Amino acid sequence: LTGARMLGLGVYRPARVVTNDEIAQRVDTSDAWIQARTGIASRRIADDEETIVAMGAAAAEKALAAAGLTADSIDLVIGATCTSPSQIPGAGPQIAHRIGAGRAGAFDINGACAGFSYAVSTAADMVRAGTLRNVLVVATERLSDYTDWDDRSTCILLADGAGAAVIGPAETNEIGPAVWGHDGSRPETIQVPGYGDNSFRMEGQAVFRWAISLVPVLRQICEQAGVAPEDLAGIVPHQANLRIVEALVTGIGATNAAVARDVVDAGNTSAASIPLGLSRLLESGEIRRGDPVLLFGFGAGLTYCGQLVRC
Ligand code: ACO
Repeated sequence: LTGARMLGLGVYRPARVVTNDEIAQRVDTSDAWIQARTGIASRRIADDEETIVAMGAAAAEKALAAAGLTADSIDLVIGATCTSPSQIPGAGPQIAHRIGAGRAGAFDINGACAGFSYAVSTAADMVRAGTLRNVLVVATERLSDYTDWDDRSTCILLADGAGAAVIGPAETNEIGPAVWGHDGSRPETIQVPGYGDNSFRMEGQAVFRWAISLVPVLRQICEQAGVAPEDLAGIVPHQANLRIVEALVTGIGATNAAVARDVVDAGNTSAASIPLGLSRLLESGEIRRGDPVLLFGFGAGLTYCGQLVRC
């Protein structure tokens, strides 16, 4: 087999829903302001038991079930997270242990909000190269741990959740070439500084402008996969802000695509946002297995990565 495809997808959404009105009880904002500027109406926030490992393992088990595979058939677990509570150990080995992927290698990558796309691309290349057979990508985030709940410009956006995908071999290649890039000259644009300062900081307008300047990259992803934007069945940009999502979709002219708007009730879950958005489009029947869907992650670094998948 010379191709790779997404064999199964699974997600985990924390139980607790936090409305805009609840946030407005703490900081000077309103439901109307948040909805107008971000499209977010509510978000999910994890409780103490919903750790990145617990959420990631729950999503991973669903992805395995969807793929019809057991944990012992997984050769490698790649954790994609930027909100691990500890510098070490990583989430990947702990998730692998929890789901019983006994013979899998395991590590994390931190591509911030582009982490899922980077991990999928890494996994697909390994599968295509024949290095291994089945790779489990697990994007799992608790941005709430790094949120400054007194900063009204960021606490309205950030949220928690997890999504996982099994990448395995296929007769035809269903994961298109990744297109990626970065602007590392402005690390302060989105950061959790560290060294004792664990609060998420962001220059919102700069991020907004940078994100919508990436329209040509989305075109390039389509071009390299040989699919015209108007033939896309679905599009799942990172769910940072509904206005960015709409600008990217309109910008490339994805006129017939079902658009992930998961941010409306999931908030920004960083690396988890793409699998969460993709699974919702599949569950609702807006896209079907085998349809061409564009995934596009972008965020802190600044860095971005995207690809076309048929899942
Ligand atoms: N409620 C009310 N007023 C607010 C709020 C709030 N929650 N937040 C900011 N304001 C005020 C500001 O203080 C400012 O007031 P001033 O004019 O008196 O100084 C005014 O609103 C305008 O502020 P801006 O920052 O210009 O507002 P903007 O329209 O840019 O919206 C936002 C801010 C929502 C953060 C927007 O810039 C944005 O979404 N940017 C992109 C963020 C993003 O995509 N991040 C993703 C990458 S990070 C990651 O994914 C993990």
